[in-house]
Amino acid sequence: MKHIFTEGKKKGAPTLLLLHGTGGNEHDLLALADMIAPESAILSVRGNVLENGMPRFFRRLAEGVFDEEDLVFRTKELTDFVNDSANKYQFDRDHVVAIGYSNGANIAASMMYHHENALNGAILFHAMVPRRGVAIPELTGTSVFIGAGKRDPLIALNETKELAKDLEKANATVTEYWVDGGHQLVREEVEKAREWFEANYN
Ligand code: MLT
Repeated sequence: MKHIFTEGKKKGAPTLLLLHGTGGNEHDLLALADMIAPESAILSVRGNVLENGMPRFFRRLAEGVFDEEDLVFRTKELTDFVNDSANKYQFDRDHVVAIGYSNGANIAASMMYHHENALNGAILFHAMVPRRGVAIPELTGTSVFIGAGKRDPLIALNETKELAKDLEKANATVTEYWVDGGHQLVREEVEKAREWFEANYN
């Protein structure tokens, strides 16, 4: 997969897996990662699917309606890519924290829904429930920060709650942070994510 890898500045800090939103690329979240965890190594990946020229991590049938078959296939593809990258770049595979926005947050959540030990933690900005009716693997020891907008036109309040509940049922530790805005990522939740990261990984 098209990607950027940069070495971390601090030994023992988790590697960040950066996953952009629809229409983004592997450069999009670099500044964000620098705000949240400036000392971490970075693996920033570009989604392999194109929707009218816009990169995404999996196909959708309509806005918010996912192509499940492709979601499952792409989630495995990305998880395998992270495994291979850990070998290639020599980072600790058991110490990877995803930062995803929108479509990128959805595939990060999907990694946790489908694959055991896929992520050590995740910051999910404006994420949906990636899939329903599957048994989520055990997530004890996994910390998740969910940033959400109270007036997000794409994601109903209840869907974010459902996502948090699903992850908690699998024994993840979930922190929700709600902003007054919509689907857009705002400074305030980035700051909260930074505090959460410091509390959990320093
Ligand atoms: C998705 O397809 O993952 C969601 O609709 C979010 C988006 O990418 O806009």
